[in-house]
Amino acid sequence: MRESVTLAGVGKTYASGVEAIREVAFQVAQGEFLTLLGPSGCGKSTLLTMIAGLLAPSRGTIAVDGAPVQGPRRDVGIVFQSPVLLPWRTVLGNVLLPIEMLRLGRRPWEVRARDLLAMAQLTDFAAKLPHELSGGMKQRVSICRALVHDPSLLLMDEPFSALDALTRDQMGQELLRIWELYRKTVIFVTHSIREAVFLSDRVLVMTPRPAAIGFEIDIKLARPRTLDMQESDEFNGYVGVLRRAIETGGRR
Ligand SMILES: Nc1ncnc2c1ncn2[C@@H]1O[C@H](COP(=O)(O)OP(=O)(O)OP(=O)(O)O)[C@@H](O)[C@H]1O
Ligand SMILES: [Mg+2]
Repeated sequence: MRESVTLAGVGKTYASGVEAIREVAFQVAQGEFLTLLGPSGCGKSTLLTMIAGLLAPSRGTIAVDGAPVQGPRRDVGIVFQSPVLLPWRTVLGNVLLPIEMLRLGRRPWEVRARDLLAMAQLTDFAAKLPHELSGGMKQRVSICRALVHDPSLLLMDEPFSALDALTRDQMGQELLRIWELYRKTVIFVTHSIREAVFLSDRVLVMTPRPAAIGFEIDIKLARPRTLDMQESDEFNGYVGVLRRAIETGGRR
């Protein structure tokens, strides 16, 4: 089992004096779907932003594919909590943004961008502007954008939290389909217990701020996951265990 991401003794105290992360250490295997679950304000976004290389830890080390993270990396894709699309660019133009920023030359990558849009069922919308899309469609565009440069690591910060429950379930399935196809390493952040169980190979529960990892569980539900699994005793058993872990402040 090769490690994709390794965090050792990672802590973050903001310049304001707020200690967001006390001490976090974990490893993520290549191709693993890992979810960080925790209450609002516990430091989930802080942690993800540090793994992305957009924020430096105050203490400890983060490595991706064996190399210390010292800044943004090209082999990482990020989906932020809100879709943040450029309003003046078409859907295709938004998906190709990382390609332009990495100066990779648009032509060869446009085929891949269109394939991703097809997979996200957005083929007919490639030439549309973001304001012509629904919220769920925008979020699918931002997932395509995070995948377009073929990153080995996908970081997702509550990507579905603005969606209604039905769309959210559909998007979760969509994401698993993409993940099963491309086998990225995924670090997914949510405060939905059911979403965490449905998507993940493993869930880490963060304690309230300053965050540490309080609880960890492997989710051994069969794959591919289907929505009717959510009614099974096995599924709801995991939900119960995680709910109790969160209720006790993420501590065992
Ligand atoms: N740029 C910043 N400067 C100072 N403090 C910050 C900054 N960003 C976040 N914090 C603080 O760090 C703590 C953790 O914030 P963070 O955004 O990581 O939490 P979160 O778990 O992602 O919350 P949510 O679930 O609401 O998105 C909070 O107390 C927050 O006020
Ligand atoms: Mg957050």
